Amino acid sequence: MKKFTGTTLILTGIIVVLSALLIGVLIFLRNQPAPQRGVMPVVKIAAMEPDSSIWGQNFPNQYSTFMMTESNNTATTYGGSDPYEKLNKDPMLKTLFAGNPFSKGYGEDRGHANALTDVENTPRLSDKTPGTCYSCKSADNPKLWSEMGMAEYDKTPFKQLGEKINHPIGCANCHDAETMRLIVTNPALEEALKEQGKDWRTFSRQEMRSLVCANCHVEYYFTKEGNYLTFPWEKGTNVEAMEAYYNEIGFFDWKHADSGANMIKMQHPDYEMYTANSTHYKAGVACADCHMPYMRDGAAKFSSHNVKSPLLDPARSCGTCHTDVNYVVERVNIIQKNVYDTMQNTEKALVSAINAIKTASENPNADQSKLEEARKLHRAAQLRWDYVAAENSMGFHNPTEALRILAAATDLARQAELTALQAVQVASK
Ligand code: HEC
Ligand code: HEC
Ligand code: HEC
Ligand code: HEC
Repeated sequence: MKKFTGTTLILTGIIVVLSALLIGVLIFLRNQPAPQRGVMPVVKIAAMEPDSSIWGQNFPNQYSTFMMTESNNTATTYGGSDPYEKLNKDPMLKTLFAGNPFSKGYGEDRGHANALTDVENTPRLSDKTPGTCYSCKSADNPKLWSEMGMAEYDKTPFKQLGEKINHPIGCANCHDAETMRLIVTNPALEEALKEQGKDWRTFSRQEMRSLVCANCHVEYYFTKEGNYLTFPWEKGTNVEAMEAYYNEIGFFDWKHADSGANMIKMQHPDYEMYTANSTHYKAGVACADCHMPYMRDGAAKFSSHNVKSPLLDPARSCGTCHTDVNYVVERVNIIQKNVYDTMQNTEKALVSAINAIKTASENPNADQSKLEEARKLHRAAQLRWDYVAAENSMGFHNPTEALRILAAATDLARQAELTALQAVQVASK
């Protein structure tokens, strides 16, 4: 009896210890980031490895979904990946961008794997194009930035830098090779955050699931000296804060060929628009939640790296959080149509302003200070319109903000037109 109890105790002890060990191991595995779970890495990936196919040996699901971005070509009503020419669809754009390379070519965007091909084939290129234009197009960048420094990279002419650039966007633009952590790779983003007193290393995982996109999907400019890539975020990231920054440093991208105004070309401020207190942002939703939804491969769960319009797969992109997927897609359609129609009216107001300023400029007796005032209003109106137009979601990322800005843009454009009319009225008196 005594012996039996002893054996039981020992056996029970062993079972308890083994169970605890098993639970411990299970908890440990659960808390590991997905990539380290299960299979051993096949290859060692060098720091900042530009070739995504090498990373792909360790992470076949992420790689194969990433490669799908190469052949997507489906259009949605206002987005998608069919690279149509926007200038043909909307001829007013030629007037709005007169004197700017965007009046020569403005293609709809496509998936990440095409970024390099598309930048090298845009009709906007010229001999003066700086290497800086490669900043958002290639997985070679992190390595080049660390070897040459960004200032040197940006000073190199586009054609010359192109000899060192062979890979489109890839794993190295968003991940640290050793830990697979999401990281900021673009020095311009690091510097812009620093100016606001922020350090991305303190950001939460959910914040990083949006911030990695801000390596590229943001408004930026090149300094006149050295074409240094800079984000105009010193005073904040909403449109008024960026305008105040540009006005303070007296920056302009080009002189408008018809109105003579010193203009700002806004570039895809997706991150800024989204984070300007949108409903989803305030609810803690990240870019990756909609654009990189989870998928399954047997027991393994992974993020789809086939980054594209969520409207092409709303069940996955929206269905994780919204039970009525048809309802929310219908909401997208309504929001986008409202924003599109409003934007068309803004464009008409801008074209009227441009024509009025042009006519007044040709009048030798026009009041020059009124004309200058009209040009400033043209700049203010168009940079607002462009902030919404160059943003990629046709307003969906932040509907109230998009409509607020368009309302201001239309008002400023009409003020510009009136002021130009006054410039010649004064003259004819
Ligand atoms: C709540 C879901 C959601 C979130 C969060 C979200 N998006 Fe989107 N995004 C959309 C929808 C819907 C569209 C419109 C797609 C269309 O018109 O086909 C879109 C469009 C886009 C497009 C253009 C796609 C195309 O097909 O041309 C880009 C680029 C984009 N988003 C980037 C971002 C970035 C960067 C973030 C984070 C700063 C973000 N999105 C956050 C839902 C979302
Ligand atoms: C290294 C720069 C870079 C990063 C980082 C980046 N993008 Fe992009 N993205 C681009 C460029 C450039 C394009 C346009 C490529 C083209 O048209 O050839 C693009 C296109 C897109 C599109 C349009 C795809 C289509 O099929 O029309 C979506 C959506 C998108 N990005 C979302 C995101 C999201 C979400 C993130 C963050 C998880 C992100 N991007 C991170 C540079 C980047
Ligand atoms: C545009 C940015 C971007 C690029 C490019 C990118 N990833 Fe990711 N990746 C993400 C985001 C965002 C997540 C989600 C991370 C999270 O939830 O913590 C992710 C997650 C992962 C994970 C973790 C498991 C999972 O699927 O959620 C692995 C592994 C991974 N990526 C591998 C790759 C590989 C391999 C490549 C190149 C073929 C690549 N990634 C390219 C943004 C990117
Ligand atoms: C990660 C979760 C998540 C995902 C993914 C998501 N949403 Fe949402 N959505 C929310 C939350 C949270 C709200 C806030 C309102 C609420 O609490 O119901 C919201 C609100 C909305 C609203 C109402 C917006 C407003 O301003 O009142 C619409 C429309 C919407 N979502 C559409 C979409 C669409 C379309 C997609 C897919 C492209 C999507 N959502 C993906 C979580 C999500």
